[in-house]
Amino acid sequence: MAPRLLLFGSSGRSGSVLARAARAQGWELVAPTHDACPLEHQERVSEAVLHSEAELVINAAAVSGLEGCAEDPLHAHLVNAVAPAAMALACRHTGARFIHLSTDYVLDGRRPGLKAEDARCAPLSVYAASKREGELQIAEALPAALVVRVSWICGNAEKPSFIEQTLCRALRGEPLAAIADQYSLPTDAEDIARILLAPQAATLSGVVQLCADGEPLSRHRCAELALREALRCGALPALPSVEPQELARAPFFREPRPRHTAMSHARLTAAGFHLPTAAECIAAVVRRALPSLTPKHI
Ligand SMILES: NC(=O)c1ccc[n+]([C@@H]2O[C@H](COP(=O)([O-])OP(=O)(O)OC[C@H]3O[C@@H](n4cnc5c(N)ncnc54)[C@H](OP(=O)(O)O)[C@@H]3O)[C@@H](O)[C@H]2O)c1
Repeated sequence: MAPRLLLFGSSGRSGSVLARAARAQGWELVAPTHDACPLEHQERVSEAVLHSEAELVINAAAVSGLEGCAEDPLHAHLVNAVAPAAMALACRHTGARFIHLSTDYVLDGRRPGLKAEDARCAPLSVYAASKREGELQIAEALPAALVVRVSWICGNAEKPSFIEQTLCRALRGEPLAAIADQYSLPTDAEDIARILLAPQAATLSGVVQLCADGEPLSRHRCAELALREALRCGALPALPSVEPQELARAPFFREPRPRHTAMSHARLTAAGFHLPTAAECIAAVVRRALPSLTPKHI
């Protein structure tokens, strides 16, 4: 009989890639939609896990818009902290493994450099605080659970990140701008699926960090790397310039963002997982996105 996976958030940027990969690997997928299992309702979440007969439960669902979370902190707390804790508790009853996605935004982002898995946390926003609360509650409810921090998820052209959006704008010949003073590392959604569904993941618990390898990059540098790859692939006639923007002046960001949250993935490396360099990650993301960016789509 095929192993059963219960996946929350299967319509999201990482969740939809996870769902496709799980089906391709022969998992029997149970993927309740937002409407079928609204995470604001703790008892519905517990029931979904308790009745699922799943061997593995993955939570890729969250409310992740920083401004939306600030407008409704209770909602952010229910979805990002209470619901994951309910999943963890229910997994303790059923014996299922539990993997939860978290974020680099929980980290103290004041100083440059790569942050280890046990680095200090200091959430700056309601969103980040709710995600950190989720991490802590899961650790208490189910110490065997795996919390996977990711950052700047990209690589799902149907749910474009700033990397695919920059590419799309460049192909349309539109002006380009990107924040040049916020540093992290991208996470390819395909790497999330590859690592979470790998048998070695079952040997891990606690917090791991999953992102590309290398030194911290600004969003601006990521955009430039994406455009260079598009040029190399012949999709652009010349390298367009990208206007550098300041985080503090970004008109669309009202909530504070941490500046330096690039993560070390040392624990995943020690467990035998390979992660691409940021340049390799972005190049792969661009090559996968380009075929869908036909004139019809741009
Ligand atoms: N995106 C990033 O760059 C990034 C960076 C760092 C960390 N993360 C973390 O990574 C994880 C996955 O992020 P993502 O970008 O893949 O997610 P996403 O694209 O924002 O998708 C979120 C998913 O959660 C579902 N959802 C939202 N509210 C819900 C609710 N109240 N009840 C039930 N389902 C609900 C959504 O369903 P509907 O679409 O139907 O509402 C969707 O399937 C999250 O934990 C996020 O905090 C993301």
